[in-house]
Amino acid sequence: MRIMVIGSGGREHTLLWKIKNDNSETKLFAVPGNGGTHDIAECIPAKTVQPEYIADMAIKNNISLTVVGPEVPLAEGISDVFQQKELKIFGPIRKAAKLEASKSFAKEFMKQNKIPTANFEIADSYDGGIQILERRVFPCVIKYDGLAAGKGVLVANDFDEAIDFLEKIYRDKIFGDKNNKIIIEDCLEGREMSYLIFTDTVDFIPMVPAKDYKRVFDNDEGPNTGGMGCYSPPSLFNQELEELIQKNVVVPTIKGLQKENIDYRGVLYFGLMLTQKGPYVLEYNVRFGDPETQVILPRMESNLVEIMEAVTEQSLKQCSIRWSNKKSLCVILASAGYPGKYEVGKEIKGLEKIKDLDVIIFHAGTTRENGKTLTAGGRVLAVTATANTFTEARDKVYKAIDIIDFEGKHYRKDIGLE
Ligand SMILES: Nc1ncnc2c1ncn2[C@@H]1O[C@H](COP(=O)(O)OP(=O)(O)O)[C@@H](O)[C@H]1O
Ligand SMILES: [Mg+2]
Repeated sequence: MRIMVIGSGGREHTLLWKIKNDNSETKLFAVPGNGGTHDIAECIPAKTVQPEYIADMAIKNNISLTVVGPEVPLAEGISDVFQQKELKIFGPIRKAAKLEASKSFAKEFMKQNKIPTANFEIADSYDGGIQILERRVFPCVIKYDGLAAGKGVLVANDFDEAIDFLEKIYRDKIFGDKNNKIIIEDCLEGREMSYLIFTDTVDFIPMVPAKDYKRVFDNDEGPNTGGMGCYSPPSLFNQELEELIQKNVVVPTIKGLQKENIDYRGVLYFGLMLTQKGPYVLEYNVRFGDPETQVILPRMESNLVEIMEAVTEQSLKQCSIRWSNKKSLCVILASAGYPGKYEVGKEIKGLEKIKDLDVIIFHAGTTRENGKTLTAGGRVLAVTATANTFTEARDKVYKAIDIIDFEGKHYRKDIGLE
């Protein structure tokens, strides 16, 4: 088999690693991949938002399945282009990807289908936003409607902070000027959890849940990032909670997709807030999470390719997935300054010295030049370990982190400590 993975992050390296682990004969391609994917895949340099070009690559390389990592190509309709050309692709079509690409669409969908979510109002101008804010109690949450790479949400503590954010959106146009919608919603209290499923619209299979750490510094201080670490399963997870999530959130979502004729085939990710009134949906993502994938897939014992093929063929009902009971934990090594400005091109040393430690290194922002591995992004590496206990997994991960070095290496020291 020949399989192509679109994307360049830690999530995509993890997907390639998992596919290779289960199917050693498979020839892998990464578009464009990163400094770590060269070992297992042929890397094809291309922008992930060139669907026609990528489809041509798939034809030229005789690819039997393409797997899309990030949300942007899905929102731009890469799966529609592939399907028109009768190429097999794992990831929802544009209409379904709107559940992530437009938060107002997702909120209306949830309201329509009685899925628990924070009460909200929608504005489409600065003045409209101010009018809503004038009658709100604070804190409240302001969300830019479109994709914003994790920078589109503000939990506003007071009116001034809220106005500042509105000015950035409407005056400075930090997210561009194509989409002028914002959502203003109630601030929920509770703990967050990521719950992911495979679905083909007919049926679904849940993955093991994960808890990620968004803030850049220990004790959840500092600005939000793409994710600084993750572990699975979350400590507060149990069967009762899982049943509640499925009954109140997952099943109504699948029924809603069916009712609204949204053909959804891929991964659906529920960003949940576990409130006193039960699980509430903060957002949908239409793809694997990053770094959730780095802790979820090492626990998956079944063959991922078989599941993905069943999803694309809408035969998921015949499948099941086995998961290991192990605990899994991942810590991100980032560049100093991330999520703000940071430098790249720093040599990463020590990778060869950790081969005997029982950890998996997933590359994210790295590149390979003249035999050296260099930093090339904000999040650089994800160090993952599985073990019988979180203490053991943490020990393995942090031991490896001590050995890996690059100038400006930054990481959180409290992953898995709660
Ligand atoms: N209604 C809410 N109440 C409290 N916190 C929220 C709410 N909505 C979002 N958040 C916080 O903001 C973060 C980002 O919001 P989310 O909807 O997941 O958007 P995105 O991931 O696209 O930035 C969440 O992980 C959560 O910490
Ligand atoms: Mg989120």
